[in-house]
Amino acid sequence: MLLTDCQTSAASEPAPKFYGRRQGRRIRKAKTTLLEAFLPAVSLTLETDLTSPDLFGIPVKEICLEIGFGNGEHIAGQSLAHPGTGFIGAEVFKNGVANLLSLMTGIKEADQLPEKISLLPDRVDNLRIWSDDVRLLFDRIPDAFITKVFVLFPDPWPKKRHAFRRFINPDNLNQLARILKPGGILRVATDHKIYKGWTLRQLHADPRFEWTAACGNDWKHAPADWVETKYQRKALREGRKPVFLDYRRV
Ligand SMILES: C[S@@+](CC[C@H](N)C(=O)[O-])C[C@H]1O[C@@H](n2cnc3c(N)ncnc32)[C@H](O)[C@@H]1O
Repeated sequence: MLLTDCQTSAASEPAPKFYGRRQGRRIRKAKTTLLEAFLPAVSLTLETDLTSPDLFGIPVKEICLEIGFGNGEHIAGQSLAHPGTGFIGAEVFKNGVANLLSLMTGIKEADQLPEKISLLPDRVDNLRIWSDDVRLLFDRIPDAFITKVFVLFPDPWPKKRHAFRRFINPDNLNQLARILKPGGILRVATDHKIYKGWTLRQLHADPRFEWTAACGNDWKHAPADWVETKYQRKALREGRKPVFLDYRRV
């Protein structure tokens, strides 16, 4: 049984409905083995004490959270670039979780599988995965615990009748405002016109967040520490210009 099954069934309240895909194409042998044999070593469960100094394999100065990491390129790149920071990545899509494990271990094909799977030598042990809906994890995260939250290219749910499914919504903003440290950053990137307007309206109406942009260049160009993601590449290929919206927790 994968941890995702345990996580959902262990929750005391009924799980919130998730509208995206949990699995895509058949996952090949190498990545299936990573899910079975390596994910438990780097995975969070409902029992994990997030305040434990041993949460990561190394001491960390601060903790960042990426919600919906997709194929994991951004969180893998950030965790490599910031070895003193702990990263928690949440993703429901099993193929994406498997891809992140592949980035962490360098294993892509079955013939690369060693007897004992470990991190690539250039990586420190500063990344943990919640392989389920982040809303199930929220109540486990203490107040003012997270320095940065990344919500990158969230599903836009462009139809009006699906607007309640958009991740940036009042309930989730209550949780993000609670778990972010004062001065912490919520970064939302999107290439979707409707989602951009939606995010700006939601966050401008919320006095707990202030937009950090001083001029157009600040949000039309990727921030300095940016790592390109799969959906960003797709947007650029298809001629859509992403925006990068950073909000500071007041
Ligand atoms: C459009 S994709 C973007 C993926 C990635 N951030 C990128 O830029 O390539 C949105 C991702 O968010 C994930 N997601 C949506 N809601 C989520 C939730 N409540 N908890 C965890 N992951 C979620 C979906 O499974 C999906 O993989």
